[in-house]
Amino acid sequence: MALPMLQLALDNKTLADALQATRILANEVDVLEAGTILVCAEGMQAVRCLKALYPNRIVLADIKAADAGSILANMCFSNGADWMTVICCAPIATVETAMAEARKRSGDLDVQIELTGSWTWEEADAWRKAGVKQVVYHRGRDAQAAGQSWSEDDLAKIRRLADMGFELSITGGLVIEDLPLFKGIPVKVFIAGRSIRDAQDPAGAARAFKARIAELWG
Ligand code: 5RP
Ligand code: MG
Repeated sequence: MALPMLQLALDNKTLADALQATRILANEVDVLEAGTILVCAEGMQAVRCLKALYPNRIVLADIKAADAGSILANMCFSNGADWMTVICCAPIATVETAMAEARKRSGDLDVQIELTGSWTWEEADAWRKAGVKQVVYHRGRDAQAAGQSWSEDDLAKIRRLADMGFELSITGGLVIEDLPLFKGIPVKVFIAGRSIRDAQDPAGAARAFKARIAELWG
């Protein structure tokens, strides 16, 4: 089983704060995420800066697009994103038009479906049929704040998505102690934001994540 990658979610409210984090952390992670909060605050400038400063890192624009798939995907990819997100409740036409923008360009550009909120297995089938490879299994930030923890139900859904052939990113208030829950599942990417950025020693926290991933999946 391939070693899962580590993605740093930059949900900062300013680009200056995000870049302060990347100065310390960019070399410790595989994927840099222009978080939803950062993109709302700073727009595509955030995506453009991350790719310009860190061309060797995968850059994800977590815009959770719900409509206007073609225009928004074009915006993300032409500003340097390698991956972008479409929210699970978006119409299949939005997924398809965003994917068409990814395919138009060279390189490993891709569209991920963000599983925040409700979705059905019929929709998951439709995403597969549309050629979607990646999904992000997400315990929402607000759901977590309201007390929702990782459950057997989450793990069963994650396994079923993996069995369907999806490449999985896992996120939502992840802390290092959560990693063993997912052992044995072919996770592509673990995404962590606050637990790395807000740690006393962020680089140490990122290295600890990487080391634990290698222990569990190596
Ligand atoms: C929220 C997000 C965040 O990027 C994701 O939850 C990761 O951040 P954190 O580890 O701080 O929860 O997409 O909608
Ligand atoms: Mg995010």
